[in-house]
Amino acid sequence: MAMSWAPDSWTKAEARQLPDYPDAAALDAATHRLATFPPLVFAGEARNLTADLAKVTEGKAFLLQGGDCAESFAEFHANNIRDTFRVILQMAVVLTFASKLPVVKVGRMAGQFAKPRSTPTEVIDGVELPSYRGDNVNDIAFTPGSRLPDPERMVRAYAQSAATLNLLRAFAQGGYANLHQVHRWTHDFMGRSPWAKKYAETADRIGEALDFMEACGISPDTVPQLSQTTFYTSHEALLLPFEQALTRQDSLTGDWYDTSAHFLWIGDRTRFEGSAHVEFLRGIGNPIGVKCGPSLEPDALLRMLDTLNPGRVPGRMTLITRYGYDKIEAHLPRLVRAVTREGHPVVWSCDPMHGNTVKAATGYKTRPFDRILAEVRGFFAVHRAEGTHAGGIHAEMTGQNVTECTGGAIDVTEQSLADRYHTHCDPRLNAGQSLELAFLLAEMLNAEMAERRKAA
Ligand code: PEP
Ligand code: CO
Repeated sequence: MAMSWAPDSWTKAEARQLPDYPDAAALDAATHRLATFPPLVFAGEARNLTADLAKVTEGKAFLLQGGDCAESFAEFHANNIRDTFRVILQMAVVLTFASKLPVVKVGRMAGQFAKPRSTPTEVIDGVELPSYRGDNVNDIAFTPGSRLPDPERMVRAYAQSAATLNLLRAFAQGGYANLHQVHRWTHDFMGRSPWAKKYAETADRIGEALDFMEACGISPDTVPQLSQTTFYTSHEALLLPFEQALTRQDSLTGDWYDTSAHFLWIGDRTRFEGSAHVEFLRGIGNPIGVKCGPSLEPDALLRMLDTLNPGRVPGRMTLITRYGYDKIEAHLPRLVRAVTREGHPVVWSCDPMHGNTVKAATGYKTRPFDRILAEVRGFFAVHRAEGTHAGGIHAEMTGQNVTECTGGAIDVTEQSLADRYHTHCDPRLNAGQSLELAFLLAEMLNAEMAERRKAA
């Protein structure tokens, strides 16, 4: 029944949001070189992530996915990688402690370069140029030469992804992720936050649990799991020539995997029926995500699930909903009911960022933190009402102390946005706001768990 698939079968379908490369020979040369480069991840790792996500579909784990909106060549620095990794780990500890659920950690890192845009061109002071599409496509500087798509940028993005992934693997496995250390960081953060008092209690309880375990002989010295963690990578599978070049046949199973990351997702603008992006992702063995915005009807979603996961493999599909704080409760229940009725196993994850973007009076694109939290609350409320697991969070965030989203305990105001507004695309949560979000999530997950225990 399934139609045949090949890594290039997407080229026969309608592809939106791809750059028009002016030099076809240069594109060919770059993708052919990429196709000879080593894979960034191993198919077995992608299968492990599918198994971890299958636990989320059963309500036995939680997915934490986060990182830059767009990685950039300019922000490529060990400290940036370390700090984002660190805050994701801190969030995971808070969540695990509160919910007693394992947290599956997935970075929007080591490959998150390409960006879909709402318009193909941008006009500034009467000058019209192609839109910036991410550092693996063109340059953000507003000059004709910079905005020209350059296929060599894919090769540079590959190199940066490889180096980023190498450091992430070192941090995750080499001792940096030691649980005691992560707890100490959380304490440091709380010392500075106005919410410190409220959270000191949680931190103290984590500390007591660690002390108790240590007294019983369970410490990072004796149990390696306490000093290591599993960290996966992900990005939007937007730039299909790049993704195709990194797609390889697994020697163990004969199946195709996109080895550019463990997890790939389709954006809200490229998930339409007949899309080249859907065609491409249909054939790869990796766990995949689909962004679900207000225009996605339940019937279309069910057809897409049948296309992308005909075997109904648990852990294969993650639905990342992104409605906006004032729309989620109107839209999400219809999707949840349709998917539940048809028995499709999915991870339900909440992206509270992309539906809550506004323009500040000062001209900056921003996201009010209270609206982000409101969408998260709405997400949990819907899943509680429908009896489904609020399975994950998908956030644009950084470990840096940026001022891109307004609000939060250490209040970022519209006036202070200019202080440290560094993003190459959408506004991100800073380290403090990310941890605050984790505490809210912990509270809501805890309530879900309590309700489940009561019902059992
Ligand atoms: C993104 O996640 O960066 C993005 C563009 O999201 P969406 O496709 O949901 O708009
Ligand atoms: Co974004």
